[in-house]
Amino acid sequence: MEKKREGFGSRTAVIFAMAGSAIGLGNIWRFPYMVGEHGGAVFVLIYIVATILFSLPIFVAEVIIGRRSHTNARDAFVKLAPGKPFWRLVSILPIVIPTIIASYYSVIGGWSLEYFIKACSLDFLRTAPDMATDLFGGFVSSTWVPVIMHLVFLAMSAVVVALGVKAGIEKFSKFILPVLFILIVLIALYSMSLPGAGEGVRYLFWADFSEFTPRTFAYALGQSFYSLSLGMGIIITYGSYVRKDENILASSAGTAVSDLMFALLAGLAIMPAVFAAGIEPGAGPGLIFQSIPYIFCKMGQEAPTLSTIASVLFFFTVIVAAMTSLISLIEVGTAFLVEKFGMKRVRAVFAMFLICGTAGVLCSLSFGPLSGLTVAGMNIFDIFDWVASNILLLIMAFLSVVFVGFVMKKEDVRDEFTNGGAKRRNAPLFNAVYFLIKWVAPIAVLLIFFTNFIL
Ligand code: PHE
Repeated sequence: MEKKREGFGSRTAVIFAMAGSAIGLGNIWRFPYMVGEHGGAVFVLIYIVATILFSLPIFVAEVIIGRRSHTNARDAFVKLAPGKPFWRLVSILPIVIPTIIASYYSVIGGWSLEYFIKACSLDFLRTAPDMATDLFGGFVSSTWVPVIMHLVFLAMSAVVVALGVKAGIEKFSKFILPVLFILIVLIALYSMSLPGAGEGVRYLFWADFSEFTPRTFAYALGQSFYSLSLGMGIIITYGSYVRKDENILASSAGTAVSDLMFALLAGLAIMPAVFAAGIEPGAGPGLIFQSIPYIFCKMGQEAPTLSTIASVLFFFTVIVAAMTSLISLIEVGTAFLVEKFGMKRVRAVFAMFLICGTAGVLCSLSFGPLSGLTVAGMNIFDIFDWVASNILLLIMAFLSVVFVGFVMKKEDVRDEFTNGGAKRRNAPLFNAVYFLIKWVAPIAVLLIFFTNFIL
């Protein structure tokens, strides 16, 4: 008999848990700088369309794989396609990808930690707004501080994984998510009231199609997958906790919409500040660490107490959002080492710390002493991100939709989608969603995948 597994209690619980994984540095840190590097509003537009047309069906497909197999991401493929060695091989990807992402994610977590410390020690009150960019440049290109911060941040997250305090983290993120939403709205309002901010809003929503290149597509889709935690086995795992009477389409759409809204709000908080501060939108991964402090330095001149409270709260929530995501990224590899090699949990976490720690040190140094080490204009950090987000995530997402479209029986997929016919309103939508999963998504992902290399 199958062991009874834990599950989410309600629709809101499902959406909260999935949104908790989805909303993270991907929205606050990665989305704005991707927009800045890839042509502004054109990127935003493609990102929105891609999320609805491709990512949402893929999200649904991953939840279906999870709920149908009722097991972890590695075993799901093996269980649903027994005796097929190819799918056994594929199932290693959801272990490798999160480990790569964890390595550089932790570096950005370290930056947030440093900025939280700066906020607490009132650094922003002592810095002229125009110096915010220099403050970041000096920090990130130095050798030791960013490396130490990365290792401390990784160690903090690893300790939580080692303790396995799942319930605590979940309850915490449920509380922190609304706080993050409120804060980002307040910062967006302040940011939009700065002189010259209108340009930033225009940059986000007024598409200039001359900026479009086929690569914009590849990066927008990569961002959408990254932001929704797709192609990583995370949604498959969460899907396995979704109750049998839960509406898969409604939960998936709820998660995708919250994630999308959060990204747009982060854009509205950051882009106007970028323009008001005269920062180059294509400044790269440091964008939010230059623009957000500008806001706090400026606010500090008029209302120091408010600026201090807001900056401490802001970086604290960024740290927590990043930590909850990093924990889930480390957990995947840890669980694998424990189950596959029979390692003790603490040892497995330590092994993950060593792997991600070392790789992360290289990523961190690539902004300073190792910045000369580049391939096709990308430093080590960029290469890690590119390989994971633009190559491996796309491959895994492609394989997931092909699996649901071609390996699973159509009737089984329909059964999951409509809960055995109980969700009548989903029935007429089934053929359209199935078509998107089976034909549109794989072809689009394949085309976009090759765009990465050819154009
Ligand atoms: N989706 C998360 C973000 O936007 C990143 C993440 C990916 C987290 C995979 C967990 C697992 O930051």
